[in-house]
Amino acid sequence: MDTPQYPHVSSIDTPALVIDLDAMQRNLQRMQQFADQHGVRLRPHAKMHKSAVLALQQISAGAVGVCVQKPSEAAAMVAGGVKNVYVSNEVIALSKCELLARLNSGLAVQNGRISVAVDSLLGIERMAQAMESLGAQAAASAPMDVYVEIDVGQGRCGVPPGMAALALVLAISQRSCLRFAGLQAYHGRAQHLRTAAERRAAIAQVVQQVQHTKAALEAAGISVPLVTGAGTGTFMHEAASGVYGELQAGSYLFMDADYAANQADPAQLQFEHALFVKSTVISRSSTATDDRAVVDAGHKSHAIDSGLPIPWAGHGADWVFSNGGDEHGILRGSHLPELGDTVWLVPGHCDPTVNLHNQMVGVRGGLADGYVERIITVDARGALT
Ligand SMILES: Cc1ncc(COP(=O)(O)O)c(C=O)c1O
Repeated sequence: MDTPQYPHVSSIDTPALVIDLDAMQRNLQRMQQFADQHGVRLRPHAKMHKSAVLALQQISAGAVGVCVQKPSEAAAMVAGGVKNVYVSNEVIALSKCELLARLNSGLAVQNGRISVAVDSLLGIERMAQAMESLGAQAAASAPMDVYVEIDVGQGRCGVPPGMAALALVLAISQRSCLRFAGLQAYHGRAQHLRTAAERRAAIAQVVQQVQHTKAALEAAGISVPLVTGAGTGTFMHEAASGVYGELQAGSYLFMDADYAANQADPAQLQFEHALFVKSTVISRSSTATDDRAVVDAGHKSHAIDSGLPIPWAGHGADWVFSNGGDEHGILRGSHLPELGDTVWLVPGHCDPTVNLHNQMVGVRGGLADGYVERIITVDARGALT
């Protein structure tokens, strides 16, 4: 049988979002092995890649399902065949709750489920109303799993740790269409604290707050089935705590430049950059005062909220990228690339970068001389609702 002829990486038009599939696969396996060895479930965050096929790849490696942040992201995952989706965020609009209730009931017949976080009585009320609109039998036969979110330091969503969670848990227990599934405790800012000591200290406090909340609930006769949370910067501490049963890390799969700027922790797994923007030099200028190469990738092709992209280390160069606006990036340094040359960039922040693209080009065999194995659709691109 003839070997299929895959296009060479040089044929990828630019700017393009490219996944190094070999590096991604190694990241995926490292994280799953870590979770398995530590006896915790892995539920990777799919808000990062927004792609059902990548979610299915994570699940077939051992993940219990995926997290998303928005009901429309959940719908995109379910449409792509993912059967276990947790919306790790608050949902208030009744129409959105109804969407989740419908998705949950559709998945129930396939042994799947949707679950959701809450931090208010109104959120619980709306979710119950949406579930009841399916009819009493449907609602009772496949109740919605609900996690009560506590604010463990992020200062975003969540009730304060301790007794405040009790009122929500009791309200959930009074609804036969809802089931208290546990606590959501995620500290986003802790992920990006630069030193290993700062991250360790932040999560030590998080764990105390979770323990305090669990104890308050247990004193009221309520057991907490699961604590879920953690991200790429701190998951090893949550896993070691003995309190968390599920890790929600997402960025480990692609590993962006911002995460790479964290000081390495000896307790931390190392992940490789697997997401790149392929760009081309479209203008070159060498004068007595300025030497620069301009590439065709600006901030319409990569997000800049967590810093500018960095040139791929594989170029072996000292180039510094500066912002050239919507469609341009400017490189300065020694031995700059020439007109028409390819420059690979590592985005500063993977999640919003992915959301700028319709597709990701999956490359096998390395960026320098690999081939295009497959195109991966960003199914939940623009799924913001
Ligand atoms: C609730 C929640 N869990 C988990 C994550 C995953 O974090 P990361 O992609 O940094 O691993 C995020 C990311 O923002 C999040 O908001």
